[in-house]
Amino acid sequence: MCGIVGYVGNREASPILVEGLSKLEYRGYDSAGVAIIENGDLTVKRCKGRLKNLENNLQKKPVKGTIGIGHTRWATHGEPSDSNSHPHSNAEGTISVVHNGIIENYIKLREWLGSKGYKFYSETDTEVIPNLIDYYYKGDLFEALTKAITKMEGSYAIGVICKNEPDKLIAVRKDSPLIVGLGKDEFFIASDIPAVLEYTREVYLLEDKEFVIITNDGVTLKTEDGEVIDKEIFHVTWDIDAAEKGGFEDFMLKEVYEQPKAIRDTLTSRIAGDAKVSLENIKFTKEELDKFDRVFIVACGTAYHAGLVGKTVIENLAKIPVEVDIASEFRYRQPLITKNSLLIVISQSGETADTLAVLRDSKKLGATVLAVTNVVGSSVSREAHHVLYTWAGPEIAVASTKAYETQLIAMYILGLYLGEVKETISKEESSIIKEEIANLPSKVEMILTQKEELQKFAAKNYMDKDVFFLGRGLDYAIALEGSLKLKEISYIHSEAYAGGELKHGPIALIEKGTVVIALLTQDKLKDKMISNIREVITRGAKVLAIANEGDKDIEGVVDGVIYIPNTNPILTPVLSVVPLQLIAYYMAKEKGCDVDKPRNLAKSVTVE
Ligand code: G6P
Repeated sequence: MCGIVGYVGNREASPILVEGLSKLEYRGYDSAGVAIIENGDLTVKRCKGRLKNLENNLQKKPVKGTIGIGHTRWATHGEPSDSNSHPHSNAEGTISVVHNGIIENYIKLREWLGSKGYKFYSETDTEVIPNLIDYYYKGDLFEALTKAITKMEGSYAIGVICKNEPDKLIAVRKDSPLIVGLGKDEFFIASDIPAVLEYTREVYLLEDKEFVIITNDGVTLKTEDGEVIDKEIFHVTWDIDAAEKGGFEDFMLKEVYEQPKAIRDTLTSRIAGDAKVSLENIKFTKEELDKFDRVFIVACGTAYHAGLVGKTVIENLAKIPVEVDIASEFRYRQPLITKNSLLIVISQSGETADTLAVLRDSKKLGATVLAVTNVVGSSVSREAHHVLYTWAGPEIAVASTKAYETQLIAMYILGLYLGEVKETISKEESSIIKEEIANLPSKVEMILTQKEELQKFAAKNYMDKDVFFLGRGLDYAIALEGSLKLKEISYIHSEAYAGGELKHGPIALIEKGTVVIALLTQDKLKDKMISNIREVITRGAKVLAIANEGDKDIEGVVDGVIYIPNTNPILTPVLSVVPLQLIAYYMAKEKGCDVDKPRNLAKSVTVE
């Protein structure tokens, strides 16, 4: 996720672009830049780091001009660096582009443009765009851009300016957001409304493949065939705070609702139809994989819970024994790491001290290290031998939601990849799972429509002192995650237990009115879970079940049921965690807690 802005008007563009970018920092903040038409020339200023760095540079050496584009980056292709920062330009520096999204076929396009003599100076996918436009440019920027996008696969919101047409800004989108702000004698483009709210409340919300051509005279919307589009103006009624959160009350809720997109982005180009899983730069041969006698998955907090799911997935699909551990425990227990070990570290931030320490120690012992992380250029991404990025975009709320979902997806992608290369799963088995994975985003969307029921449950139970979560198999891993979410943000004491452990202690805590949330999405374990549920009900518990759609037999047994859409049993965690995230969220809201910044907790724990 990145943020783009653009300005055409009579005022100095530079401070307006920087101000707009500051409202989009929630979309990315590892580098920033602007390109401005200055005395008929294109001037680009860009640098690694927070927006403040760019602002300081611009203060030292101001760029004058009234047309410009700007970008705040969250790296996907190429680590944060000055040269990977946007805007990107063609070699002559006559065309500059800011881009949010991912150009999936950029490697092919680089090769193709390379064969025509084009040179590249960054590791980004974006750099192909100004060069493609350059290739097609015959004096008409709009025409060149319409031709360039026919070559591009993936998602994009693009803003372009060109030295040869210095009074013009052109933008277009596909699968990445883009709006146009309509001020008085001045116009804006932006990835999101907060960037323009200080200047106008009148906006166009662009649809896919709609182009906007902006000059001082006004705004024209066009289709790719050049037909003019007549669009309704949208009047924004939100205040700036709500707008930054996309109209949601909190970042956490916004991020819960971003999960379908985060899953889609993480799957992009890795799982496509029936083709074998492709993992960008990760390429193992069967012999290399057969050498690994054990996989270790090590992480902290929510990422550790993703690892628990990863264990089952990798053992089932790739038939390699997997050990999962919490980084702070693993590092001090002299684990049996050898050169035949594959260590997978999972870390949203890529900076968690204990996880990083495990990575370093294990490398010294000869392990091959693969990192699953959300932050390009983070410490674990730099130090691991291989990196699989989760493309969740920046996660602002302390309690992890969309990053966790994408970590689960990474586990499936990895499990399938290892299984395919090791030939431990059949093509049919792998196709069935891939087909179902592709359906997960829309199934998560279906669960999100049940929010009212979850809200009611929260309103009834938020005064409870304790909540218990029960599950077996993969449901147990989700019970742990649900329990962590609840305690993190609502401060209600909660525990998660494997159903089979109930009789070994926890049942002593169940009394009249105790709330138990029971997961039973694993068909093979369903009867056993129903027995556990009956055991707690006999002792007075009130039970909410999370079950598969169509499992009507549970209705007569429990007090309430939340159904998740049917899917392959190995994939249910992606769905069953969503109601638990919402329960935690609504319980915390009922109690008046600050869900985005829970007390005593940090987003990233960089000290021991
Ligand atoms: C903190 C955060 C959690 C996160 C954990 C691991 O506890 O509050 O949300 O799961 O750290 O962080 P990482 O960045 O390594 O995934």
